[in-house]
Amino acid sequence: MFVFGSKGEISEKFLPLFLKIKKSLLLKLYQKFFVLLFAFFSIQAMAQNSFLAEKDIAIFYPKDFDSLQTLPSLAIVHPLTKQRNLPDNWEIQPKFSLIDGKNAVEINFAESTDLYGTGEVTGSLRRNGREITLWNTDNGNYLQYNGDRLYQSHPWVLGVREDGTSFGIIADHTWKQEIKLNHPIQMISEGPSFRVIVIEKETPQEVVQALGKLTGTIELPPLWAIGYQQSRFSYYPQQQAASIVDEFRNRQIPLDVLWMDINYMDGFRIFTFDPKGYADPKKLNEYLHKNDVKSVFMIDPGVKKEEGYFVYDQGTSGNHWTLNKNNEAFTGKVWPGQCVFPDYTRPETRTWWASLYKDFMSLGVDGVWNDMNEPSVFDGTNGSMPPDNFHRGGGELPKGSHLRYHNVYGMLMVKATREGILETNPNKRPFVLSRSNFMGGQRYAATWTGDNKSTFDYLKESIPMSINLGLSGQPFNGPDIGGFSGDANPELFGQWIALGAYYPFSRNHTSTETVAQEPWAFGEEIEKVSRTAINRRYKLLPYLYTLFREASVNGMPVMRPIYFADIKDKTLREEEQAFLIGKDLMIIPRWAKNVHEPKGNWETIPFEKEDDGYQSIVKLRPGGVVPISKIVQSTEEYSAEKITLLVNLAERGKASGSLYDDEKDGFGYKNGEFSLFEFKAKRVSKNQIKVRIKQKEGNRKIKQQYRIGWVKDNQIHYSAWSYSNNIHLII
Ligand code: GLC
Repeated sequence: MFVFGSKGEISEKFLPLFLKIKKSLLLKLYQKFFVLLFAFFSIQAMAQNSFLAEKDIAIFYPKDFDSLQTLPSLAIVHPLTKQRNLPDNWEIQPKFSLIDGKNAVEINFAESTDLYGTGEVTGSLRRNGREITLWNTDNGNYLQYNGDRLYQSHPWVLGVREDGTSFGIIADHTWKQEIKLNHPIQMISEGPSFRVIVIEKETPQEVVQALGKLTGTIELPPLWAIGYQQSRFSYYPQQQAASIVDEFRNRQIPLDVLWMDINYMDGFRIFTFDPKGYADPKKLNEYLHKNDVKSVFMIDPGVKKEEGYFVYDQGTSGNHWTLNKNNEAFTGKVWPGQCVFPDYTRPETRTWWASLYKDFMSLGVDGVWNDMNEPSVFDGTNGSMPPDNFHRGGGELPKGSHLRYHNVYGMLMVKATREGILETNPNKRPFVLSRSNFMGGQRYAATWTGDNKSTFDYLKESIPMSINLGLSGQPFNGPDIGGFSGDANPELFGQWIALGAYYPFSRNHTSTETVAQEPWAFGEEIEKVSRTAINRRYKLLPYLYTLFREASVNGMPVMRPIYFADIKDKTLREEEQAFLIGKDLMIIPRWAKNVHEPKGNWETIPFEKEDDGYQSIVKLRPGGVVPISKIVQSTEEYSAEKITLLVNLAERGKASGSLYDDEKDGFGYKNGEFSLFEFKAKRVSKNQIKVRIKQKEGNRKIKQQYRIGWVKDNQIHYSAWSYSNNIHLII
């Protein structure tokens, strides 16, 4: 009352007091304002806990959603802001609930829907009725836990309705969880409540592409990574590695990559070389390169706990280790003995990890194989770290328990590995193979399906496993050809290599103390079978590379389920022996029985004159044009200068296809240094067809010769070679 002077100004005497009051008043008002604002938005959030981020993509938030507990998303890279309200007729409505006290969602769907996806899993292609746990596990032979958890996690379900319209569901968090594909679908988390993303599209292909848009696609690999690759645990000493390459070249079996497993290291210490067996890795790499072969070396996450070992010393002084619940560096046993493990949730640790690759790659190493990164801990809790281990996070990532970050341990590792390789070789496309990963991890690494077994069941099971990985966003995958544990035999290996030539990632690998598994190891007949199969892969390189490019652009898998050929034909939905490569080739393994083939006149491509009884039957889609090239011994020799266009006209006498070509490596393609050709084939008269070639995209110009190879009734009718953009075939 007495505060103000005659003119309304504050009397000096009271000024300090007034300021104090004003300050605290203002502060209180401010606080009130923010509380109100927060309450307003919370009410809004509760009232509008679902919305459309895009026309066909809906996001659902539970009422008690706490973003700090699950975000930022490690899977999703596409912004998910509200565009519109959810329409009333939106069919797939996740219902948040508690199941046995755990945060969960339940999702109802039409009974006749077929379910797929769920990442790397054992069992059948169609996932209805399956129950899996997402907890990355070093599950040798897939035998523990009834095979319900493997090395990677994809909280993702693809549903294909009777009429072909499809939906996709993402539980957007990394905590341990279960997916029960019953009716309703249940996704049950061991962590806090989480948001759910639902994609709704006309076809499963569109859903998978939307998944690619949300979680990112693969980066275009170097062409060599698509070639045939040879591995074993382990080629030792380095002279043996070199001699394997000699054998391939002498025997004229194409080869692009040789793999160096852990024995190259000095006592399994990562980033070191065994002074006896691998005294000069640079020399080995140079020898490989001289023979047009690339090298991939293994690096595991476990760092031997040993003072004086530079990786351990650096990591300790940089404070890089994952901590146990007592805040000490967690230790556990892996190959080298007691190990510590980088905490890849920390940006500083990822930067340090990346820096380790500098000297390593400078020795001429071409690619990196990150294994054991679930992480596998031999004497740990269920073979890994205890869930109450602690990750410090940093940058955008909050700190959190291992229960939260376990499933992305491998993913964050390969993210850092990729960055390290790229820093050393900025003008080359990095290649990383990872055993463990998480949804979205295709952005950083290709994958193989871990330790399978040399038996026919594992061979068969590899097909639905690879297809489902592709349907879950990871197109670049494949199993160990020939099987990892146990001894392969001639019959099994012959069948496996004849199938393995078509896996997106095509690598022969076996364990230590198993019989040799190189293509010539099983006698002359199987050597011939192997050569023929691998030759076929190299003939198909133009088509395969085009498919990898497509995968990098829109997320379409390379290996696809047969039902993609006709989504309305319900009889195809469980076919898991035969599969598609791209949309134009159907692969039917020789042992497959009662295959459900799509309707229409798919023509068998007669690759060889003589049938060896092992090669897969490869059929060309009616309406498809597939570019193939001559056999080369390595992708180094490959060129798109002479291309045969295999054509199978559809009923209306038309067919089409495409071909992607670039410099095989490097990033010139990002600046338009590539060519994307389109082929349009047409029947002009009863015995004449014409193909028009057009460069659709890219600035790269190459002089090309083409010829038509019209596939009809088990024969190929060839035109003459031509440099023209219009080629004719008259028969
Ligand atoms: C793991 C890998 C296998 C590798 C072995 C030795 O079992 O899955 O591929 O050969 O470790 O490094």
